[in-house]
Amino acid sequence: MIYNWKQEINKLELKKVGEELRKDNLVVFPTETVYGIGANAFSKEAIEKIYLAKKRPSDNPLIVHLATKEDICKIAKDINEIEQKLINTFMPGPFTIILNRTKEIPNVVTANLDTVAVRVPENKIAQEIIKEAGVPIAAPSANISGRPSGTNIDDIKEELEENVSIIVEADPCTIGLESTVVKVINNIPVILRPGKVTKEDIQKVVGVCKIDENVLKQVGDFDKVESPGMKYKHYAPNTDCRLIYSNDEAKLINEINSQIKNIQIINNKIKKIGVIGFCEHKDKIKADNFLEICNVNDLDKYAREIYSALRKMDKEGLDLILIEGVGKQEIGLAIMNRLIRTCRYDVIMIK
Ligand code: TXA
Ligand code: MG
Repeated sequence: MIYNWKQEINKLELKKVGEELRKDNLVVFPTETVYGIGANAFSKEAIEKIYLAKKRPSDNPLIVHLATKEDICKIAKDINEIEQKLINTFMPGPFTIILNRTKEIPNVVTANLDTVAVRVPENKIAQEIIKEAGVPIAAPSANISGRPSGTNIDDIKEELEENVSIIVEADPCTIGLESTVVKVINNIPVILRPGKVTKEDIQKVVGVCKIDENVLKQVGDFDKVESPGMKYKHYAPNTDCRLIYSNDEAKLINEINSQIKNIQIINNKIKKIGVIGFCEHKDKIKADNFLEICNVNDLDKYAREIYSALRKMDKEGLDLILIEGVGKQEIGLAIMNRLIRTCRYDVIMIK
């Protein structure tokens, strides 16, 4: 069932959404970051449906969503002063904090960890749905595991319609990348997954903030990590992708053009190459297919559109997608964190 709430929230349908969630069924709903697949976080049966629908590895825990930060005490305990400051400042918003959990949350939600990931979304529809359900809502991104996260309703319908009870249709997400995930370790906030809330934003509130070393690094299957999500294949279309970056624009364009030239004919076979890049570069890059994502300085738009761009290019019958990388400032770090995984660490950085 698809409910279209682009104009306004339909009150009768909202009641139905609440009922479905309380009956342990799955509902896709929008948040400001990406769409989520929601289920009753107190119900083991409901959570198992999420893992099944997403084909998600069972050791990758879920984020629990609440309507207000006052509800956090229902699922987490022993919150220290630094954690409380972060909660007060960044919630509701694109921010997730890892806290000690209470017993009410079943083990399947946290993949047996002692901690739980907590988020209070700012999106009005998300808040109304969680309130109406009357229970905390566990919600991973709305996509099959390993694929780009769902930010656009057409992509989501195509991938998930058969696996969920209700899809709530709204506008594309305003941020487009998943929330910043933070864990306070030895009194220092550590960013486990970068997002719209940056290290600088956190430093302004509590003075210090670190970025986990794995954020821009290749992580092996057996490496010990703070967040299980760091290990998995992620954010990837079926077509092979390669990330290319230089802060020198001329060098970047040169490298992309020479990559295209070198790859175009391999073993006498013609290869079709696509590029996802900046509007200003369209006329300078000689690709079979060039998808303009945004202007060079508009990284917020890059973040908002990258997942649907990847899905769009995946349908073009290409042999390889070259992706123009971005600087690591502000939302740029989150973009690069996702893209190195999209490209399965096939990354070329030119000084
Ligand atoms: O923006 C978002 O956060 C979206 C929307 C729907 O809210 N949700 C989302 O969920 O991105 P998901 O499941 O795709 O990513 C959750 C991330 C994973 O990397 C997971 O490993 C990490 O959070 N995580 C969850 N619980 C954790 C815990 N207890 N300790 C460390 N990492 C945890
Ligand atoms: Mg995800």
